[in-house]
Amino acid sequence: MTLARVAILISGGGSNMVALVRSMTGDHPGRPVIVVSNVPGAGGLAKAEALGVPGAVVDHRPFGKDREAFEAALNEVLTAAAPDVICHAGFMRIVTPGFVRKWEGRMLNIHPSLLPKFKGLHTHVQVLAAVDAEHGCTVHEVTAELDGGPILGQARVPVLPGDTEVTLAARVMVQEHLLYPAVLRRFVAGDRTPVFLP
Ligand code: GAR
Repeated sequence: MTLARVAILISGGGSNMVALVRSMTGDHPGRPVIVVSNVPGAGGLAKAEALGVPGAVVDHRPFGKDREAFEAALNEVLTAAAPDVICHAGFMRIVTPGFVRKWEGRMLNIHPSLLPKFKGLHTHVQVLAAVDAEHGCTVHEVTAELDGGPILGQARVPVLPGDTEVTLAARVMVQEHLLYPAVLRRFVAGDRTPVFLP
């Protein structure tokens, strides 16, 4: 069996990337081929190196507001790695429809909310402000609509009395690290049936 080549895009600490990389062993149908960060020095790059996965940086800043030019540079690095699947894992860039078209149907993202609720940033703050009883995370296909592609998995956590952004984020993160590998394994095997945890 040919193993699927998985690229992972990060911007920060890369804890989801680590969970994905660690999951791709043994009978897993995929293997990590590259970790790309748009932030030079992102903590995840050292973690990727420690895990033996090649890392690359495509800094978005020299491109200013020119998203297409940044994405052309990113595409060059990605194309060289020939990924079958691209996982956004804390990759904090909005991608253009042109970039989505190039990788359509092969690109996943994890978002820290129960989509379609709380798209965008500061999701834990949004949940606390809404006084919701539950929260969670979603893995979805990346489409041209921000945080709007088909849902491939969700994990729920309770919102507890006294929760802060920090306590809530930590509770969701535990689930992110379980959900994303579970969805990726299924997706790489060609199964898009959503995964629901716990
Ligand atoms: C994760 O919570 C992920 O869901 C979130 O950024 C964090 C990255 O952490 N992503 C987004 O908010 C995307 N809109 P990590 O670098 O430790 O994986």
